[in-house]
Amino acid sequence: APAFSADIELAKTSTLESIVKAGEIRVGFESGYLPFEMTNTKGQYIGFDIDMGKQLAKAMGVTFTPVNTAWDGIIPSLITEKFDIIISGMTVTQERNLAVNFTDPYIVVGQAILLNKKHEGVVKSYKDLNDPKYVITSKLGTTGEQAVKRMIPRATYKSFEVETEAVMEVIQGNADATVYDLPLIEIMQAQHGKGKTVALTEPFTFEPLAMAVRKGDPDFLNFLNNFIRQYKNDGRWQQSYDKWIKS
Ligand code: ARG
Repeated sequence: APAFSADIELAKTSTLESIVKAGEIRVGFESGYLPFEMTNTKGQYIGFDIDMGKQLAKAMGVTFTPVNTAWDGIIPSLITEKFDIIISGMTVTQERNLAVNFTDPYIVVGQAILLNKKHEGVVKSYKDLNDPKYVITSKLGTTGEQAVKRMIPRATYKSFEVETEAVMEVIQGNADATVYDLPLIEIMQAQHGKGKTVALTEPFTFEPLAMAVRKGDPDFLNFLNNFIRQYKNDGRWQQSYDKWIKS
């Protein structure tokens, strides 16, 4: 009897099959993380992750169904099957990997700093910010927040639920620095920083970004890893990178 129930366990349907059967892939992400997922003036989702998600849907012959969801509940929502996959600029961390499976990374980023211009030349790296007199902002539940707490523990930390709000605190002069993924820092500096902030663009953490899926589904993971390798190497990744990320 134990061997038989083990067989039944192995025969569990892969998300791969349920997606094909449903004719759609429900992709979970949180819009607002520039330039990976954002909402345009027409209310459409656009960005580097959205391009890739659409190509993934195409490769599976199904419809791309975006599911915009709050960052702090994104892993529980995946686990409870609110969507099939997370494509949301998510860093592979060992903590998260205890709860979900990650594909191979599709890009590597790191934490960077957007600094109030008045500290230019004085603050040269994250180490110089390690003082209670500096107010640093980042976003709740992200690796940016984790980096501040672990690597700049003496600074005064202020958490925000929306990354662009964390950045605006620095641009408006209410905080000294924001710590966040480099691509967002570069965009914010270019769009709002002139004369107000400077970007310290040397990443001080190593952050592979990957898609996340529920545990125990090797068929889906295999499909995704092969898709990512193809997408990265046949020109599509580069085209999307040049459009959204290249500065
Ligand atoms: N890479 C960072 C992390 O994994 C930030 C990702 C935020 N993504 C988003 N869609 N808001 O914590």
